[in-house]
Amino acid sequence: MMEVSVKLLILVFSLVINVLSSPIDFFWAGDAYNYTELVSLGLPEGVHVDNAFKSSVRFKGLPPIIPYPLNTQKTLKTGEIPQYVIDYSPVVHLYSEEKYLPYDIKEYVKNFHAEFEDGTKLLNGKTLNINDLSKLSNIFENPIFLTSNSDFDNDPDWITGVENKPNIYNGKLEHSPAILIVVDKGNGWVDAFWFYFYSFNLGPFVMGVGPFGNHVGDWEHSLVRFYNGKPYIVWMSAHGGGNAYFYDHMEKLESDINRPVLFSARGTHANYASVGQHAHDLPYSILSDFTDRGLLWDPSKNYLAYTAEFNPIKGINVTYANGSIPNRERDEYGDWLNFRGYWGNKQLPGSDKRQVWSPFGWKYINGPAGPLNKNLDRVSPCQRAKWWNFWGGCNVRVYVKMGNGIESEGNNGCGNFFKKVKPFYLKKILELITYGGGLCWILDLIYG
Ligand SMILES: *[C@@H]1O[C@H](CO)[C@@H](O)[C@H](O)[C@H]1NC(C)=O
Ligand SMILES: *[C@@H]1O[C@H](CO)[C@@H](O)[C@H](O)[C@H]1NC(C)=O
Ligand SMILES: *[C@@H]1O[C@H](CO)[C@@H](O)[C@H](O)[C@H]1NC(C)=O
Repeated sequence: MMEVSVKLLILVFSLVINVLSSPIDFFWAGDAYNYTELVSLGLPEGVHVDNAFKSSVRFKGLPPIIPYPLNTQKTLKTGEIPQYVIDYSPVVHLYSEEKYLPYDIKEYVKNFHAEFEDGTKLLNGKTLNINDLSKLSNIFENPIFLTSNSDFDNDPDWITGVENKPNIYNGKLEHSPAILIVVDKGNGWVDAFWFYFYSFNLGPFVMGVGPFGNHVGDWEHSLVRFYNGKPYIVWMSAHGGGNAYFYDHMEKLESDINRPVLFSARGTHANYASVGQHAHDLPYSILSDFTDRGLLWDPSKNYLAYTAEFNPIKGINVTYANGSIPNRERDEYGDWLNFRGYWGNKQLPGSDKRQVWSPFGWKYINGPAGPLNKNLDRVSPCQRAKWWNFWGGCNVRVYVKMGNGIESEGNNGCGNFFKKVKPFYLKKILELITYGGGLCWILDLIYG
């Protein structure tokens, strides 16, 4: 009940901010995009409205970011991966007791066949190999689900990726390449998207109930945004939303201070910039992720590389680049990126004995869509906004948001303001008066 009223309050706040900030947004966004060009492409709605108080797309003295740059506005050639993208690539601490490790997509698909939503089998139900995905890439009339041939529920090795622990000396994941997609955003801006694939997402528990929101196949990613070869912003995915930071303020690898450090949460693999407990939905920490300094994965030691170009009329054009092993993309993986279906089983029906319902949702939900569905032509660094974020803001943080709980290595959130207050009921009342952290959240939005 309380949760509902709190959500309502946040909605009202959002609306107020939305209305108040529209003129500001217009002003800021107008400066950041080339309207002439967008309008000439017939795409005025391609302009995303920006943050309420700060612009994440406008940088003093720097030219605008362009989702559909002309060739003359680009700095990279098709298929080119500049060295700075590798030099400033993120490293990822997996959770120390992570049970669902990264996995190689080429090996993963060998456990699947393709089905339409209604169960109709494609390619005669054949067991897939990675090259088959391109055969599925021109079918749009119906969503396609990669559907496992055997039961995924009893944790076979292809689900857990049990062998796929990064080398403790150099961080290399020998049998599971990461995926790099570089997108030129015009005027010297370049986005480097690093995708991390895991075979399984173990959802969270809520008050001892769960897990819920499990799915087969799990795509996570981060973005490093460069201007003239210098990193400015790092964004990381978490539960359909994510967190953006100024590069300069992130933790860096001790042995290579250029490289920002990410933390992959237990089970869900959501990415954070610090260790500890992280609430995923506002404003209470009912749903939390946990990160720590488990094995360090260095994706730059083993990765596949592509460049992608966007055209509002012709669509997306993906080109093979050279990752850590030349020509592996073309020779071993082929045209899998253009597969636009779901990378895991459809949500199990309620009648399936593996499926469980709880007030927080189903135990098993649909597998995720692949990298090209992640809005790689974005102008704002955030992939998309959460439901409560009406104005579609993307808050690029200056201060790293610390996790809570015993593993936290710092504390700078206003949301923790009342943590030390005792007794419990006084604390709850204070939280309630300040809308369960909602006010703090807004302060955080402005000053974070
Ligand atoms: C915007 O795009 C148009 C058409 O491509 C071009 O003529 C104009 O110079 C651009 N303006 C800026 C500020 O880049
Ligand atoms: C994709 O890029 C390649 C290489 O630049 C080019 O030859 C091809 O025409 C492009 N295709 C589309 C649909 O833009
Ligand atoms: C990848 O490297 C190989 C060998 O060095 C080279 O022949 C090929 O042109 C490169 N491919 C791209 C897309 O740069």
